[in-house]
Amino acid sequence: MIFSDNDENKPSKKDKNLKKMPDKTKDLEAVSTEFDETYEKTIRPKTFDEYIGQKSLKETLKISIEASKKRNVPLDHLLFYGPPGLGKTTLANIIANECGTDIKITSAPALERPRDIIGILMSLKGGEILFIDEIHRLNKVAEEILYPAMEDFSIDLTTGKSQTVKTMRVPVQKFTLIGATTKAGALSGPLRDRFGIIHRLEFYTPTELQKIVKRSAKILNAEIDDEGAMEIALRSRATPRIANRLIKRAGDYALVKSDGKITKKTANLALNNLNIDALGLDNTDRALLKLIIEKYNGGPVGVETLAVALGEDIRTIEDVYEPYLLQSGLLMRTLRGRTVTKQAYEHLGYKIPAGLDNGQMGLFD
Ligand code: ADE
Repeated sequence: MIFSDNDENKPSKKDKNLKKMPDKTKDLEAVSTEFDETYEKTIRPKTFDEYIGQKSLKETLKISIEASKKRNVPLDHLLFYGPPGLGKTTLANIIANECGTDIKITSAPALERPRDIIGILMSLKGGEILFIDEIHRLNKVAEEILYPAMEDFSIDLTTGKSQTVKTMRVPVQKFTLIGATTKAGALSGPLRDRFGIIHRLEFYTPTELQKIVKRSAKILNAEIDDEGAMEIALRSRATPRIANRLIKRAGDYALVKSDGKITKKTANLALNNLNIDALGLDNTDRALLKLIIEKYNGGPVGVETLAVALGEDIRTIEDVYEPYLLQSGLLMRTLRGRTVTKQAYEHLGYKIPAGLDNGQMGLFD
């Protein structure tokens, strides 16, 4: 027998019913409606052909998948990183689909005890994919269990207690780990080194998002014209998850206030109503920029100070709000803290201070 009855590594029946942990950052994005998983699953692309954007990543993945099929070996372990909502989970599901295998989805905070990760590893069938979201939050013990599993498809189990403790190496089925993180830098070196493919997900261009909006609207039977789709695209923080939520809001608005068709005008009114501005910024984004301008003369100011003043935690500011503000050229990170750019003053209607010459190229230039 591998486990003694009181062995904490023994997987319980409960552990086999894996559930996706709620992702806190999802509550904190631009639209504060409840996250509708069923809705997102309906419109989620299932194949690479349906998936819009991330061109170079898609090419890399297609080649790796084909090679693994030809060699009859599992796909290399993959790490996806980048801001939330860009499609890390969607891609993992597509990979499983394209490989013709199943996927088990979990999140690092759900793998608190050794038996959580051991239970999952031992339950995997050959060739299956294990998706671990927020992998940078994996604890040290879970990480150490994962190392031999990733390298040699085996785990080290301990049995017995104190003086009689024994370790034995047990094989697990060959599998592919797909890790996802918003913070690649927070991953330990040894864990990062065990991934064969490491790829950053990029923000989407307005044209890519427009295509995504039109595709989703079609699936949802929502009527939308090209300009309406572009209006939503431009105000979605370059993020498909947000674009897909805004279609719903714009569709509701168009139905109640007009004939149901999403046009540039109805999309514009619907988004204004949600306090989402022309660059896709919401109240918190604007509050963050205004705080730096009004209280700190444009910066630099430390993220800790901003977090306290805004009542947000540092992680949310760094992972959810900042990536888009940096990418759109409104904010800069310097060694001494955060600084707003000339464009931020302009966008929020402030007079640009004399001598400020920190203009940035942004997403929309
Ligand atoms: N829905 C969410 N992300 C998508 C993408 N990249 N392509 C198509 N539809 C999507």
